[in-house]
Amino acid sequence: MDSKLNSSSQQEEAEPPAIRPDFIPASSWLNPDNVRLEQERLWPRVWQMACREEELLTVGAFVNYEILDDSILIVRSGPGEDDLVAYYNVCQHRGRKLRVEKKGQLGRTISCRFHGWQWTIDGKIAHVHQRENWQGCPEFTDEAIALPQVKLARWGGWIWIHQGEDPQPLEEWLGEAGRLLGPFDMRSMRARWWKTIAAPVNWRVVCEAFNEGYHVWSTHSMGVNYRSTGTLSVSFGDHSMFRGTVAGRLLSEYKTDDGSWKMAESVPEYLWAVERHTYRSLGAMTLEPTMAAAERVKALPPDTPAMDVVAAMWAYQQEEFANRGLKWPEGLTREVIAAAGTDWHIFPNAVVLPTVDGALWYRMRPNGPDPDSCVFDIWSFAHVPPGEERGMPEQEVFQGFQEFIGQCPFLEEDFLNLTAVNEGMKSRGWKGARTNPVQEVSITTFHKALARFLGE
Ligand code: FES
Ligand SMILES: [Fe+2]
Repeated sequence: MDSKLNSSSQQEEAEPPAIRPDFIPASSWLNPDNVRLEQERLWPRVWQMACREEELLTVGAFVNYEILDDSILIVRSGPGEDDLVAYYNVCQHRGRKLRVEKKGQLGRTISCRFHGWQWTIDGKIAHVHQRENWQGCPEFTDEAIALPQVKLARWGGWIWIHQGEDPQPLEEWLGEAGRLLGPFDMRSMRARWWKTIAAPVNWRVVCEAFNEGYHVWSTHSMGVNYRSTGTLSVSFGDHSMFRGTVAGRLLSEYKTDDGSWKMAESVPEYLWAVERHTYRSLGAMTLEPTMAAAERVKALPPDTPAMDVVAAMWAYQQEEFANRGLKWPEGLTREVIAAAGTDWHIFPNAVVLPTVDGALWYRMRPNGPDPDSCVFDIWSFAHVPPGEERGMPEQEVFQGFQEFIGQCPFLEEDFLNLTAVNEGMKSRGWKGARTNPVQEVSITTFHKALARFLGE
């Protein structure tokens, strides 16, 4: 027994302290080898959300997904739903990047500008200029000079890629996240806006600002207008989720337009006030159907019993869907919404908050080898009438958080923390994160998974 204790305490001296539910050592963020280790051991071994299906509507349309030194083209190779391919965007002759644009349209082939080699749009070699020059050379087969394929799969309206040889199927990888989020039918949604920030912080720091709800009461003094009652964070393998702890709190104080707190006089008033605030401050999650339903709820008699108000809200939401020609997702029930919770972190770098009306999606990834630089995408999705033309809104790109000011007051409150955290963490005076073991399970889950990938 004693020798065991000794050996474990010696081990602790030699190694950084382990990740516990209430603690993550600073080295988990600051290890100078993180970028290299992530490049070698994380990104090539995970499923990544590369683009939306509706970015690839015409045959030959492509999106260039970049992750560190790898550039991967996701291409529509035919008219069928599954006619999609992904391959490395690199000429097999001398290594020229084939396409430098972020997205575009291929003709019948994809060709390299340098010496004119060509491939079909699904990546098979179509032409080598003066191929006879290679006569008798070893391994100069069509297979060997095809564009190396990358695995892809579809889920939630996204096209996901995996750079591994034989990855776990995407549905299996998503596990409970996929099962619980499935009924929201996110594939039928369309992006209302897409904002991308070139952010001067580590991608993990951005991720961790959006996968826990513990910060809400302090950070969002303006973004939310209710008294936050805390959250419960739960892990599902490497993924995690949090939900509010006081489900259906129906009568409380709320912050009015002039910033003062007011006790709601009725359940209808409180429900309306909270929805209206999200609708205005975020421009996502609570959209027109739910806002219209909330306006109708507000008109209910003030003494309507709470459960009747909730039932009316639910009925109005469905009516407002119908009024707008929107299709209510089959299987979307109140139980399903309750089980799904509020906010999901899909390891390693996607976060989603689904609602009746739509979903808010985030994705963050390194922007080149600088650990203090990332590309941070934010999309607000909404249901649209079936048959409405598919497509994507124009991507708006911002250089840094300063440039983003004026876009979304709610998110700007989150952004005020990010640079300060990224800088603060590097201080000698910070040994690690004292994570909340109830509300920040998502953060420890994330770092445990990262440590496992990077250590393997
Ligand atoms: S580098 Fe592409 S054809 Fe030579
Ligand atoms: Fe926030």
